[in-house]
Amino acid sequence: MTPTSYDALMEVVRNRMTVRAFDPSVPIPREHYELILEAARHAPSGANAQPWHFIVVEDQSLKDRIMAYFREEQVARAKLKMKFPTPDYRGLATAPGFIVVASDFRWVRAFPVLNDGSELDRMYKENAERILLQSVAAATMSAHLAAAALGYNVWWVTAIGQEKAQAAMKPLLGIPEELSVLDIMCFGPPAKAPYKRWKKRLEEIVSWNRFDPAQAKTEAQIDEWIATQRQKVMYKDEKNVD
Ligand SMILES: Cc1cc2nc3c(=O)[nH]c(=O)nc-3n(C[C@H](O)[C@H](O)[C@H](O)COP(=O)(O)O)c2cc1C
Repeated sequence: MTPTSYDALMEVVRNRMTVRAFDPSVPIPREHYELILEAARHAPSGANAQPWHFIVVEDQSLKDRIMAYFREEQVARAKLKMKFPTPDYRGLATAPGFIVVASDFRWVRAFPVLNDGSELDRMYKENAERILLQSVAAATMSAHLAAAALGYNVWWVTAIGQEKAQAAMKPLLGIPEELSVLDIMCFGPPAKAPYKRWKKRLEEIVSWNRFDPAQAKTEAQIDEWIATQRQKVMYKDEKNVD
């Protein structure tokens, strides 16, 4: 890769910023959906199985109904006192770009599995599921970067994994029983100026040859981070996170 294309790539990577409310007045041309999903199409995947399917949702009434499930989830979480800083999911209905990402978990059979019900088989299957999820995430990330390259902001939404929400949403989009909805990709112009979120420094996430013990975390440290930092890093500009 030439330095020039690295710089161009990093410009896109750095400027991929999440927003959770969009300007709904700017329609997304089909051509842009195709450019974005063309990037997803080239993603790597375990066994080259390409275990993904993307459903473009243009119909506003469908977006509204999907948003309603997320609102329900938001209310349920508040009642459960989960303490997770759940965002305002009404923003989903404002997204001019809306792609539902689905996968068929039967593709795990394409990865190394024994299918004999043994303990070893269970362990292989567990890893096969990870391979599938990493594959779909790889394609989804390519799509997000392509959307960022087209000048849009993005929102990666996973909060609907639960069986109940899946059961409600799948018939709405005619998604067959065998498929699972993994996430929703929203994109478009932002409702208000996006901001760059805090990212760990390189030395915090990289070890050379052997794991750097200085980076090992205790459970207490992780809990402390969740209690004091999580909300800030999710919702604040990096300039306002100490
Ligand atoms: C796998 C994954 C799941 C996510 N799920 C949600 C979600 O359900 N709801 C949400 O509001 N944001 C979700 N996000 C967005 C993250 O909160 C966001 O990427 C993070 O705060 C960093 O901000 P940035 O994307 O601007 O760098 C998710 C992101 C990823 C990669």
